[in-house]
Amino acid sequence: MTTPLSSVIIGTGGIARAHVNAARSNSDRTQLVAAMDIDAERVSGFCETNEIPRPYTDLAEMLEREKPALVHICTPPSLHCAQIIQALEAGAWVLCEKPLCASLAEMDLIEEAEQRTGNYCSSVFQWRFGSGGQHLKGLIDSGAVGKPLVANALTTWYRTPAYYAVPWRGKWKTELGGVSMGHGIHMMDFLLYLYGEWAEVRAMIDTLDRDIEVEDVSMAIVRFANSAMANITNSVLSPREESYMRFDFQKATVELRHLYRYHNDDWTYTIHPGMEHTAEFEGWKTLPANVGSNHDEQLRQLLDSREKGERPLVSGPGVRGTIEFLASLYKSAMTGQPVRRGDITPGDPFYNAMNGPGDQSWQRG
Ligand SMILES: NC(=O)c1ccc[n+]([C@@H]2O[C@H](COP(=O)([O-])OP(=O)(O)OC[C@H]3O[C@@H](n4cnc5c(N)ncnc54)[C@H](O)[C@@H]3O)[C@@H](O)[C@H]2O)c1
Repeated sequence: MTTPLSSVIIGTGGIARAHVNAARSNSDRTQLVAAMDIDAERVSGFCETNEIPRPYTDLAEMLEREKPALVHICTPPSLHCAQIIQALEAGAWVLCEKPLCASLAEMDLIEEAEQRTGNYCSSVFQWRFGSGGQHLKGLIDSGAVGKPLVANALTTWYRTPAYYAVPWRGKWKTELGGVSMGHGIHMMDFLLYLYGEWAEVRAMIDTLDRDIEVEDVSMAIVRFANSAMANITNSVLSPREESYMRFDFQKATVELRHLYRYHNDDWTYTIHPGMEHTAEFEGWKTLPANVGSNHDEQLRQLLDSREKGERPLVSGPGVRGTIEFLASLYKSAMTGQPVRRGDITPGDPFYNAMNGPGDQSWQRG
């Protein structure tokens, strides 16, 4: 029996609880020994409630004293890059909340720090890890369902004006983007993971009904390298909330309907009439044992990678495509031009920030 790896949490607000649950469900392999937040009262309460031994209000001090093997980052988005690098430099692997970082420029800094230290940082994208998603990925990669042709991806959620009262939300500087960067990011990453390399994006964004700097609606059309085409809607203005995805392959349509976390029952497989009773179709729609799309499974696989000393899924090149896609979506929306993969290079304002040069002329609503 090996000793569990020591881990710590930075940022003890809303999402930190999902990381505690994930650590608990992997308690034979990792144990939370400390947590840090700039809010002393919050971190003490969090540690007490979750039976974490030591609270801190200073990050450097926690890293120095605890020397953790794994750091969970659950702070507001604009802090992620610097905290990731600090944790990597301190000798830890990192599991960081989405959005991983502000820009392609920050992605470069993270990859450089990984190379320098030999440690890895994985971005939380828990949708990739549910059994339904893993099963579909296998069917796509083996060619069983035929070529991906069409996809529709709707993140239609609802966030009240009060949600944006939290000081870091709704601003470019601290939230780094709006509904695309903060909400639709889960489904867009999942779509890109399933359909493969993206090639071109055309997008529109606007702020239609919330009093915020960033967008509350975005729409995009994507062309993939394999020629498939997808249509994306992201909204925080949709009173009947739903996350809906529809994938059309040569041989089957696959749909996923849920809200924030999916399970096996949320998936539907449909085949051309007359083919329903084939053994092949039975195989496609028979999912493995249910694993929800939550942080637990992503942490489990991260621990597997660490044990093997291998780069974890959703790190480095495995997440860069999503960050580049987001930068390209914003560039397309703000310039009114299609953006191809590879178009945004150092020197381009959209390389350094999702809102590029920073003007708000795209805002019409
Ligand atoms: N994966 C998901 O499904 C999911 C869901 C919700 C939020 N998130 C992400 O998690 C992150 C945090 O979101 P939240 O809703 O928990 O926010 P939150 O505002 O509830 O919590 C953030 C915490 O960070 C603390 N903090 C601020 N500055 C700090 C610093 N310098 N050092 C340490 N702590 C600091 C705050 O005091 C607060 O306790 C965001 O990036 C968000 O996008 C992910």
